[in-house]
Amino acid sequence: METYGIGLIGCGTVGSGVARILLEHTERLTARTGKKLQLRRVLVRDPAKRRQVELPPGLVTTRLEDLKTDPNIQVVAELAGGVDWPRRAVLELLEAGKDIVTANKALLAEHGAELFDAGRRFGRAIAFEASVAGGVPIITALTQSLAANQITAVQAILNGTSNFILTGMSEENLPYRDALAEAQRLGYAEADPTLDVDGTDAAQKLAILAQIAFGVNARLDSFERRGIAEIDSIDIQYARELGYTIKLLAEAWLSGRKLALHVSPVLLRKHDPLALVRGPYNAIHLVGDVVGDTLFYGRGAGQMPTASAVVADLIDMAVGRAHNTFRSLRLWCGNGGNIELQPSSTVRSRFYLRMFVEDRPGVLAQICTVLANYRISITSLIQHEALEDHEGDIVPLVIMTHTASTADFRAAVADLADLPFLRETIAYYPVAD
Ligand code: NAP
Ligand code: HSE
Repeated sequence: METYGIGLIGCGTVGSGVARILLEHTERLTARTGKKLQLRRVLVRDPAKRRQVELPPGLVTTRLEDLKTDPNIQVVAELAGGVDWPRRAVLELLEAGKDIVTANKALLAEHGAELFDAGRRFGRAIAFEASVAGGVPIITALTQSLAANQITAVQAILNGTSNFILTGMSEENLPYRDALAEAQRLGYAEADPTLDVDGTDAAQKLAILAQIAFGVNARLDSFERRGIAEIDSIDIQYARELGYTIKLLAEAWLSGRKLALHVSPVLLRKHDPLALVRGPYNAIHLVGDVVGDTLFYGRGAGQMPTASAVVADLIDMAVGRAHNTFRSLRLWCGNGGNIELQPSSTVRSRFYLRMFVEDRPGVLAQICTVLANYRISITSLIQHEALEDHEGDIVPLVIMTHTASTADFRAAVADLADLPFLRETIAYYPVAD
């Protein structure tokens, strides 16, 4: 039987999961590919480190050269993370004739064009199912199953760590720090968890989806991203009172030839399917012009869900499917089609607005005047009594607005921030209805 040789870069959370599947499910993999999938080399930084998988002797190396020069390695799975070093490694491996599987969204979001160009030049393929939504097969769905459609909207929970933290804060009253530490312990978070909680990881994934669904090269600095780090548990509580749940969403809207993208905490009605997504789970709501609404759901982070997607790509490489897909899709080939990025400030939305203000006559009137100046109409307003832990007569004021342009709303928030009776920073989030 033909042997198909595999190299791994990285044997951390994801890499050790991939190694386990390759070593423990050989029969299943042979049945699916008609080949003997053989793990030949595992590249790591520290060969002495204890691994979550028992590797056969002689596999571990610290030299990329050992993967490049082994003629029996056909494909390398890059599961190291980071950007600069993996970029160079992937380019060298493509030139050495190896196909690439990667879970590295940071790498693709920043260097997808260069890497895919190199892949085409050297006649190799790159597969990346694990780079977006972990174990949820969203790349295959978009590139194959929904190929008859023009996608018109994406609304997605793409960062398992943030969703895990928000779930812990809202359901168990967990302090933010404790929930983050638990996400790190469970292997959901990036090596630098700032990327999870500041919205960068979700933005990298949204940039990949924008490329696949709309043919648009969206640089990370070309659209707005906000994370969950600044969400105050009081806003989770007020949102719940109003019948909403706060989720970190990655969203894309196509109108005509204009595409708007953003990553932001958003208030969702508590019965919205995305509001019910808990813990490290991801969900992607896609709207296609032919199919209508579709919803994809599953574990978006963690060792084995991610390893499941990586090994699926390795199987696709072994049977030749990945080469066909790579050739036919021509991803990252310049800005495909005629779709242009539109500033997210032009998007219209309802908003949640929370302020702490002095409790004295005229305050509400002035706030309403500022909102009216920007044509923003109020749908509901709640003024709670003074909080026990706030000194003096300071009260929280929560306003829900009618639909307004994001630019107008932000200008109003800037004006409100200058009002003399305002205390602490203003919290505001879009509301999805
Ligand atoms: P991790 O646990 O930190 O593991 C990284 C591995 O890469 C380690 O084994 C490390 O070696 C090795 N490595 C890093 N830099 C290296 C270098 N310069 N040379 C050789 N080896 C190097 O990371 P992870 O969570 O598995 O994530 C890996 C990739 O998968 C990242 O791109 C991440 O974004 C992506 N991803 C992760 C998840 C998840 O849930 N964790 C889900 C989807 C995608 P040592 O062990 O010797 O230090
Ligand atoms: N850190 C990422 C997350 C891993 O929490 O979603 C999956 O890409």
